[in-house]
Amino acid sequence: MKIEDMMKSPTGCPISHDAAAFDVFEEDYLVNPHEALRWSREKEPVFYNPRLGYWVVTRYDDVKSIFRDNILFSPSIALEKITQAPPEAEEILKSYGYAMNRTLVNEDEPAHMERRRVLMDSFNLDKLEKHQGDIRNLTRIYMDRFINKGKADLVNEMFWEIPLMVALHFLGVSDEDIEQLREFSVAHTVNTWGKPSESEQLAVAHSVGKFWQAAGKILENMSKDPDGSGWMHHTIRQHKLYPEVVTSSYLHSMMMAILVAAHETTSNASANAIRLLLSTEGAWQELCTNVNLIPNAVEECLRVEGSVVAWRRRATEQTKINGVKIPKDAKLLIVLASANHDERHFEDPDEVDLYRENTTDHLTFGYGSHQCMGKNIARMEMRIFIEEFTKRLPHLKLVEGQQYEYLPNTSFRGPSSLWVEWDPDKNPELYDPSILVKNHNFPIGSPLKDDLTRSLKVSNVYKECDDIVRLVLKSPSGHVLPKWSPGSHIDLIINGYNRKYSLCGQSESSNQYEIAILKEEEGRGASKYIYNNISIDDDVQIVGPKNHFRLDEQASSYILIAGGIGITPILAMADKLKSLGKKYKLHYAVRSIKGMTLVKRLHSDHIDNLSLYSKEDGDRMDLTEITGNITEGTQIYACGPERLLFELEKRSNSWPDNTLHFERFVSRGENLSPENEHSFDVELKDSDITVQVRDDQTLLEALLAIGIDAPHDCKEGICGTCEVGVLKGEIDHRDEVLTAAEKNSQDRIMTCCSRAKGGKLTLAL
Ligand code: FES
Repeated sequence: MKIEDMMKSPTGCPISHDAAAFDVFEEDYLVNPHEALRWSREKEPVFYNPRLGYWVVTRYDDVKSIFRDNILFSPSIALEKITQAPPEAEEILKSYGYAMNRTLVNEDEPAHMERRRVLMDSFNLDKLEKHQGDIRNLTRIYMDRFINKGKADLVNEMFWEIPLMVALHFLGVSDEDIEQLREFSVAHTVNTWGKPSESEQLAVAHSVGKFWQAAGKILENMSKDPDGSGWMHHTIRQHKLYPEVVTSSYLHSMMMAILVAAHETTSNASANAIRLLLSTEGAWQELCTNVNLIPNAVEECLRVEGSVVAWRRRATEQTKINGVKIPKDAKLLIVLASANHDERHFEDPDEVDLYRENTTDHLTFGYGSHQCMGKNIARMEMRIFIEEFTKRLPHLKLVEGQQYEYLPNTSFRGPSSLWVEWDPDKNPELYDPSILVKNHNFPIGSPLKDDLTRSLKVSNVYKECDDIVRLVLKSPSGHVLPKWSPGSHIDLIINGYNRKYSLCGQSESSNQYEIAILKEEEGRGASKYIYNNISIDDDVQIVGPKNHFRLDEQASSYILIAGGIGITPILAMADKLKSLGKKYKLHYAVRSIKGMTLVKRLHSDHIDNLSLYSKEDGDRMDLTEITGNITEGTQIYACGPERLLFELEKRSNSWPDNTLHFERFVSRGENLSPENEHSFDVELKDSDITVQVRDDQTLLEALLAIGIDAPHDCKEGICGTCEVGVLKGEIDHRDEVLTAAEKNSQDRIMTCCSRAKGGKLTLAL
């Protein structure tokens, strides 16, 4: 069809040239799907593509909201052939008795969750632990085969087979026909998500038919062993117990689908990850020196170069996505690879940042009740691969000039070969065989955020006034540091202390961070230690930057209020507002003029908007006057001592909603005392799961224990990272983040500290 002939969508709306020209089977999309859809994320996030007959959705929030609602957006077409087969191919499939039906992937509710519930036990975190040893052993055995050769194709010599063997062990299936299974699984991918030519369709149909029969045979043999171990044996037993839920047709279809799903995505993701890490400046070296970073690096690789590119859904009703009218029965291609590069959700999304705080938000595993059940097995494998490679082959390099080829299909992506090389005479185990027995067994599940430390050097120390020092921190290797925005802070880890400090330099600066530290005589010791001991060239560890105190740049006017050392984030905000040409006033109060910090900068850059108050000189900040006339559209950002924030919080009750923004670095909350708590149930609407929160655990702990990737950071109720929407139930708020108005609205909860007042909460998770 010519582009000119396809310029209308099924709703009759004209479609753009880009939308009509987009081709999922073209090189651009296969090689770099997020780049191929950059135009769409920017200009046309939901568009109709006549070549495919699908509506394509490319932004993060839209993709996530489609995953969230699996009634309006049915997964039933997820395994439908995207390229129509000729009648001869259909005949061939029929001759093998091929009858692929519903599996967990394309099952509608309520059947999907009924099955998932009876089958998901083996995926619980405590049940997965035992597979670590198996994966480690296989990794060692395969690496031993090429470690002294100096060159290997990792896809064909390792990454294809290990995930397949792990999958077979997990399923309880014998691994004797491994080569044939590989051939079958490629055919299944091409058949379902690819664009085979007419003659290829026939060969593919034969392979798929044979695969179907092989899956049936495996199933038949397994059924003869009622006590066999592994997930498929468990599924067969559940079929006997609940034949209405786990039906025979389901068993056969699932057997075939799981043989592919359980390993191909991990094989591809592992190859993508190693390629990305070796081609990103400094990334491999960073992992070689900081093993703790590996779990987060795996998530960042899944985000930047995930192996699952897109899924499909069908609109069961006429609806709208991001304002675009979608007709009933419309088919949707939701492009996860594009959503994972959406700058509306991920700062600097094309950068590979191994420390990225929210990288686990990626959608490569899907989201909600259809999220990949095997995600924690895939994570485990990728973490062990990277750990063993960085330990045994830190000098690994990509072979230059190699071409990467990808199987033409809409949804799965990984190179067909990945050549790497190294100098075997420099293998560390030749000089230190003990490295072979040093294993870092990462906890199963999403990465622990406390492990995301970055090493920096103190490049300058300035004494700002009697009790404040300002530190300039740089990367020891001179690497560019991740960008930050006003309101950001870092966690500084030094001499056993871990404290949060706001960044106060120029946010545009890419090679250094600045923080100011007040020596607190009555504090917990960190500030005194730093003030007295820090010097140029000292090494420090940091976590971040993170921003839980983000400046809304759309407001019409701003009041910035700082007390004491609280000037640090406020100054960065003032800089930003000035550069944006916004109307702002900056009020800064201190005990004495001697205690003022960053004064030179304040005078040189903000003098026209600045009011200074020194208590010692009898010059007090009058909050009544400053905030006397707050109108809609004014935003107040404040940082300073607790009594200042408390006073503002009190006054904020009479201001328009969301006027006041502040950040606390210290929690006022108490530790959990089970004797004063009660247990409660939490229903997760998006995941269709109910979990009990015991009286001795937090809601966050209960979520993580069942494998939900619940975002979190401080775990003290002060950062806001763990916020989740509440759909039903009364909340016992215990955080320091939400304003009184937000708490009253009872529509969101900080899962790390807040609880249910009654017996149940329903969450949008
Ligand atoms: Fe920081 Fe909950 S994790 S508020």
